[in-house]
Amino acid sequence: MIVPQPGFGPGKVILLGEHAVVYGHPALAAPLEWGVVARPLLSDRTSLVVPDEIRGKSRAALKRAFAVAAKRCGSPPVTLFLESDLPVSMGLGSSAAVGVACARSLLLSAGRSAEPEEVARIALEMEKEFHGTPSGVDHTTSAVGQLIEFRRKPGAPAGKARVVSSPKPLKVVIALAGTRPSTRVTVQGLRERAARWPERYERIFQEIGRVALEGARSVEAGDLDALGDAMNVNQGLLSALQLSSSSIEEMVQRLRAAGALGAKLTGAGGDGGAVIGLFANPKRALATLRRQGVHCFDSQVAGPRAK
Ligand code: MEV
Repeated sequence: MIVPQPGFGPGKVILLGEHAVVYGHPALAAPLEWGVVARPLLSDRTSLVVPDEIRGKSRAALKRAFAVAAKRCGSPPVTLFLESDLPVSMGLGSSAAVGVACARSLLLSAGRSAEPEEVARIALEMEKEFHGTPSGVDHTTSAVGQLIEFRRKPGAPAGKARVVSSPKPLKVVIALAGTRPSTRVTVQGLRERAARWPERYERIFQEIGRVALEGARSVEAGDLDALGDAMNVNQGLLSALQLSSSSIEEMVQRLRAAGALGAKLTGAGGDGGAVIGLFANPKRALATLRRQGVHCFDSQVAGPRAK
């Protein structure tokens, strides 16, 4: 019997290691409290109502991705409606969150189990329609729903996630620094530079991977200052890879001036997108940034929560 069940996919922030993760190095990533809900209604066939604001190539990619997921989940006769409170195309994993929400809802509605591994497998198939060659960090973080150290060795069909536990609450402010090109375009531009000057770029990718592992250890030790420093150094390395811009740098400086222990771009970067700052207590910084007209919000991404 078909019992339609909703599915949730959280957005994500990459604390350390974006881009290098595409080349097989580790990254540290966490789910946000915001995300996408897929709500199903019984129907005569499996379908998705694509929201009007998703247009052009993204609309076509989402339709193709959904067809892949529907088939993998046994095509339960439901129509899914999407609700999202995530900013789109900002580096916060909105497409992976759509994939995870749809996969969860379709699996559960088909009466199948929605274990994170199976949800992640289906969401990866969907993600390939959006980004071509994703590392898998976005949808794995969304499917696991916890802070993870993620690594996909070159040539491996899927990555491996290790849950990283934090003895302290890990809180970030997410500030939006304008529009950016698609992840596919930014990843491709870097791929071309890395193919032209492989040794130089590989040295930087390796260093980013090391900083990500050091950051994961700092989290486990409850050393927020050390995690913040790792984020600052990671921002410098991303800038060396030409993935930063004046609007990103300006936002990084604003977050640091507002007291961030560390600040960097998150996701693909490029011209703009989301910038994150790590704070022991983000409330005052949020108020300051909002007074300055910055579009920002906060999220606890790991660690014990106040009751
Ligand atoms: C995008 O959120 C993260 C990137 O590293 C791409 C990927 O991992 O597939 C830029």
